[in-house]
Amino acid sequence: MRLKEKIKENLQDQIDFNRLPAHIALIMDGNGRWAKQKGRLRTYGHKIGAESLTAVVRHAKKLGVKTISFFAFSTENWNRPKDEVDEIFRIVRKLIKDKKNSLIDSETKFMVIGERDRLDPDIVKDIEEIEEQTKDHTGFTINIALNYGGRGEIIAAVNKILADKLESIDEPTFRKYLQTASIPDPDLLIRTSGEQRLSNFMMYQCAYTELYFPKVHWPDFREKELEEAIIAYQKRDRRFGAIKG
Ligand code: IPE
Ligand code: IPE
Ligand code: MG
Repeated sequence: MRLKEKIKENLQDQIDFNRLPAHIALIMDGNGRWAKQKGRLRTYGHKIGAESLTAVVRHAKKLGVKTISFFAFSTENWNRPKDEVDEIFRIVRKLIKDKKNSLIDSETKFMVIGERDRLDPDIVKDIEEIEEQTKDHTGFTINIALNYGGRGEIIAAVNKILADKLESIDEPTFRKYLQTASIPDPDLLIRTSGEQRLSNFMMYQCAYTELYFPKVHWPDFREKELEEAIIAYQKRDRRFGAIKG
């Protein structure tokens, strides 16, 4: 057996498949720095980062993870140079178009969170079509955060609650107003590139999420790195405020 395959197998041996994180959320960070280290344009990092996304989706599904969320573009990312924003959306558009048919034909449910008002209409059209066609799929859920901000999501929820004229609210009801109403809270949040912050990603949902910050930049985060993250997660002691039994 080749050494590479052997390492791969050993890592999977360390995973307890009965205790997988049901929902993994990923903040895909470090594309720009990765490209710069290679003497390339930042946009090259986004291009290869899209390949990581595809690889991580495929592998998470194969391992048996139920839901996976990706932070692809934040409401604050509009503050970047127009050329870079355009290139990110060119990559997003192509990815969605390329995967459209295979998603519709799969067992996978596809959903996008974030505000759609600033997205190009053709991208929104494709997203809505895939969402509609996959809404009853139950095998696996892919959630993409596009023009998403956690604070904005909470404020939008409050405004919907006001419009519904509710007099008081409890946590289960509030959750129904979030864009993540149909998926559980993340068990594991991974942010690549060594940065240790949420940058406005799923703040409400991550109250008890285990946080993991690998040093690798997103374009280098692939199957092996996902397995390492799951192994690290399984070593954590999740107490949810209680004490150990
Ligand atoms: C993450 O990589 C991708 C997006 C935010 C869209 P960055 O572009 O933030 O890369 P760095 O953090 O500048 O290296
Ligand atoms: C967070 O990364 C947003 C995404 C990964 C889409 P940023 O690179 O935008 O975050 P900051 O600016 O370092 O906090
Ligand atoms: Mg960044």
